[in-house]
Amino acid sequence: MLPSNFFNQDCRDCPRLAGFLDDVKRKYPDYHALPVAPFGDPEARLLIVGLAPGMHGANASGRPFTGDYAGLLLYQALYDHGFSNQAESAALNDGLVLADCRITNAVKCLPPQNKPTGDEIKRCNHYLAAEIQALPERSVILALGNIAHQAVLRAYGLKTNAAKFGHHSLFQLPDGNTLVSSYHCSRYNVQTKRLSPTMLAEVFSTVRSLLIGRD
Ligand code: URA
Repeated sequence: MLPSNFFNQDCRDCPRLAGFLDDVKRKYPDYHALPVAPFGDPEARLLIVGLAPGMHGANASGRPFTGDYAGLLLYQALYDHGFSNQAESAALNDGLVLADCRITNAVKCLPPQNKPTGDEIKRCNHYLAAEIQALPERSVILALGNIAHQAVLRAYGLKTNAAKFGHHSLFQLPDGNTLVSSYHCSRYNVQTKRLSPTMLAEVFSTVRSLLIGRD
């Protein structure tokens, strides 16, 4: 079960991010504009780690990768690989349920220009560490992008160079969990074809086989 310290919607530990969210809330009163909680199955054996909420996506909707271009490929892949009941994530009340999967972000608050500072990534890391500690044995952590990859290593107390980031790379974590890393499914990566739907599907096939081997 998830411990109570895995998320705090009232967190204002990063002054730059808290101030930015206050400004965004004034400009867009209907937006969530607060730290975005992890979404999905509290008992999941697959934890997906993104970077941070996007301005008009997760930051607006309050659910990771929801309303973001980056969510299109991700939620389709989750559906295709049996981790959800719907191929799209539209809003908090859309009936989407994730099965054996939860999605979180390395940084829970929207950063200006989508770029958290190193200090903000570090300061937010204890939430990710608490979430990881609560995973069932032999879970899989899927890091989307290098920042998420490094945030996972940091959450384990490992040096960020303990495992080099690469698309579709695998790393055995000290507690028996496996870190699988992928290029982030951002609009930039998809539109420049750095990450194709097929490439993401291959990563999810690997994730699925790792989990099947652990049933
Ligand atoms: N939306 C998220 O919640 N996380 C990302 O990394 C990108 C978009």
